[in-house]
Amino acid sequence: MDKIVALAKRRGFIYPGSEIYGGLANTYDYGPVGAELLRNIKNLWWKYFVQARPDMVGIDGSIISHHKIWEASGHVAGFADAMIDCKNCKSRYRADHIIEDHFSAKSEEKNVEGLSTKELDEIIEKEKITCPNCGKIEWTKVRKFNLLFPVQLGIVEGEGGMGYLRGETAQLIFTNFRNVVDSTRVRLPFGIAQLGKSFRNEITPGNSVFRTIEFEQAEIEYFFDPDETKWEPLYEEWKNAMNVFVTEKLGVKKENLRWRTHTDEERSFYSKRTEDMEYKFPFGFKELWGLAYRTDYDLTAHKEASKKDLTIIDPKTQKRILPHVIEPAVGINRLLLMVLADAYQEEENRTVLKITPKLAPYKVAVFPLLANKEDLVAKARKVFELLSPEFMTAFDDRGNIGKRYLSQDEIGTPWCVTIDFDTLDNDTVTIRDRDTTKQERIAIKDLLSYFEEKLQS
Ligand code: GAP
Repeated sequence: MDKIVALAKRRGFIYPGSEIYGGLANTYDYGPVGAELLRNIKNLWWKYFVQARPDMVGIDGSIISHHKIWEASGHVAGFADAMIDCKNCKSRYRADHIIEDHFSAKSEEKNVEGLSTKELDEIIEKEKITCPNCGKIEWTKVRKFNLLFPVQLGIVEGEGGMGYLRGETAQLIFTNFRNVVDSTRVRLPFGIAQLGKSFRNEITPGNSVFRTIEFEQAEIEYFFDPDETKWEPLYEEWKNAMNVFVTEKLGVKKENLRWRTHTDEERSFYSKRTEDMEYKFPFGFKELWGLAYRTDYDLTAHKEASKKDLTIIDPKTQKRILPHVIEPAVGINRLLLMVLADAYQEEENRTVLKITPKLAPYKVAVFPLLANKEDLVAKARKVFELLSPEFMTAFDDRGNIGKRYLSQDEIGTPWCVTIDFDTLDNDTVTIRDRDTTKQERIAIKDLLSYFEEKLQS
């Protein structure tokens, strides 16, 4: 993990947030290649789950939202983590994390989700768990902290009332359900997708962007009439779509993935089934993507709190239906961390990110063989101008060719094009493949179609 974090910083994927002012815990900024990778993952998710499906539409809800949304959804009362403080060194931890880490150090698995603060206190005391920072046992009692960020609206304090930064994108889908039904041609079963920032005031144990206080969430609420559509096969269809996306679209290795069913204690009381797709991160198998059958819990809650009719009329039978939902919910930043971890390889003479080409921040890098030969540089600029309108293309004339290859390998660029003296004679260039390091010669006029074909396969 340390190596991945170091490469991510060194090469411009992920920087610590507010770094020049000493950093701000659990925040990160994305650098030039990180921003590209993040955008590519978001676009691929949208393309696969919204654009390619006739039964899906997308929305983009606001980040600041009415406090009543979060009261109705249950977040104000119940969206809390159990925290504990070390009285000696003042470090703060999530109680479940220090317990789980304590057991995993003994090669035992312990799931403490759903336990009360009293039960967590008892485990910490019985196991004599020490502070990971100072090694002392001087704990406060375990307490619950709400994760929502309140925002004071209005220029004068108290004027505009209270809102919240959204703690998940899902609630905005439920609160816009009526609007989407009334303004589009959707018919059950159908899904509403949303991709955007969510905010949670989390205490996290590091691990880069795995868990942050601000993150990009991509969620779908798939609405259906439980009398017409059986939930079990629908649930399996979504599981399959998630598997296909991660393995085929993001190019992640199957053997690093597994599914885990939530225990009765950890599953929300309204959910009929919840499973997590987990990825084998360098710090262990961890939740990547949740899939939950949430019944009609959310629409019922908003219907009752808002006193608005959120039912939909079946055009055939005129029956009023309050749809149920299946919800696949994932964090794009977590997908990005997985992509980096899965692609990272150390070979004898190089470190290389074998990111699937469609996701790679740059698809092509263009090099003039020598930076001090004007005609080579001018020709390389022409090749850059040919490729860059179609593909993210890097241009590099610093250092020697070997070093340029190595730096492109570290950011996962699949192909490097070199303009050499033969190019000036016959308008051909060499293309070096990131994964095989083999080179082939190709005419400049065929470059666009060459990369188009490669990126289609
Ligand atoms: N609407 C359901 C929901 O939000 P969740 O399990 O709390 O469920 C869904 O979140 C997904 O969002 C997680 O599987 C994870 O990928 C991502 N996620 C949640 N909290 C996160 C955080 N603090 N930082 C990064 N990603 C997070």
